[in-house]
Amino acid sequence: MSNFKVYVTENIPSQGLDLLRSQGVEVEVWSYDNPISTEELKAVLKDCDGLISMLGHKIDKGLIEACPKLKVISNYAVGYNNIDIEAASKNSIAVGNTPDVLTDATADLAMALLLSLSRRIRESNYSVHEGHWEKWEPLGFLGKSLKGKTLGVIGLGRIGMAFAKRCRDGFGMKLIHYSKSEKQGFNKTSLDTLLKESDVISLHCPLNEETNQLLGYDKLKLTKKDCILINTARGEVIVQDDLIKVLKEGHFFGVGLDVTAPEPIDPNSPLLGIERVLITPHIGSADIETRDAMSLLTAKNILAGLNKKPLPAFVNPEVWR
Ligand code: DGY
Repeated sequence: MSNFKVYVTENIPSQGLDLLRSQGVEVEVWSYDNPISTEELKAVLKDCDGLISMLGHKIDKGLIEACPKLKVISNYAVGYNNIDIEAASKNSIAVGNTPDVLTDATADLAMALLLSLSRRIRESNYSVHEGHWEKWEPLGFLGKSLKGKTLGVIGLGRIGMAFAKRCRDGFGMKLIHYSKSEKQGFNKTSLDTLLKESDVISLHCPLNEETNQLLGYDKLKLTKKDCILINTARGEVIVQDDLIKVLKEGHFFGVGLDVTAPEPIDPNSPLLGIERVLITPHIGSADIETRDAMSLLTAKNILAGLNKKPLPAFVNPEVWR
């Protein structure tokens, strides 16, 4: 498959790149520390047939229309809210993503955030580092047990389900969910009921018109005062300034955010100064095995797209109809 050229906007594990090169595809990788700008991306994509993009890179209509050679985009993420799918389809560009391979890793990270907050790991760890461990304290750093508590999952898709099963089977939690689809054996409720009744709320929905800014001040205030809120989906699902306001009013036992709006978070954000807020830098899929699998899947998407074959993880299968 010679003469095809693919651009990769960040260095990724080598498996996928090796696969592409073994098939005769020319691969070029952005190798600078600073993220590639839209203008730079436009320039390098002029003679490219494929693009491996990261979730932080906006692939909008303007960029898509400026790249007439482009045949396939493979996003190195399951979420693809950074790509204008309509514009891609209109321009006969196939789009792929990386579902399934990162389900467990992301559910694990949500679990890690939850346990860290429920058992106050962040605060107690800081306290040790600051030299405050003076004696064993019967009332020190009391957390909250998860057993028998109600988990509310917003978006019971693959990752939401994997997280829900961890909480149900591993920690004896009860489950309710607010999602588009029904899931047999899982209790679906309205958003307001979920917010009012859950002890733990975890967000696993995609970012789209319906979920953008879903949780503003009024919704956040519906939650139990000592609720734990976890977001490993997209920062924009929560109105961040409203979350800060509600936290300052004493709401929430803990808030765990793997995603923020914007990313990276403003280093002066008040969220960083609130002890019961735990923030990680969008590392949901960041384990070695998962990232290797994502690399291979993105490459397979690219190879299929260059050959005008169905992508293994096809976001817009209608594109060639
Ligand atoms: C994705 O792949 O969309 C996730 O945000 C990874 O954490």
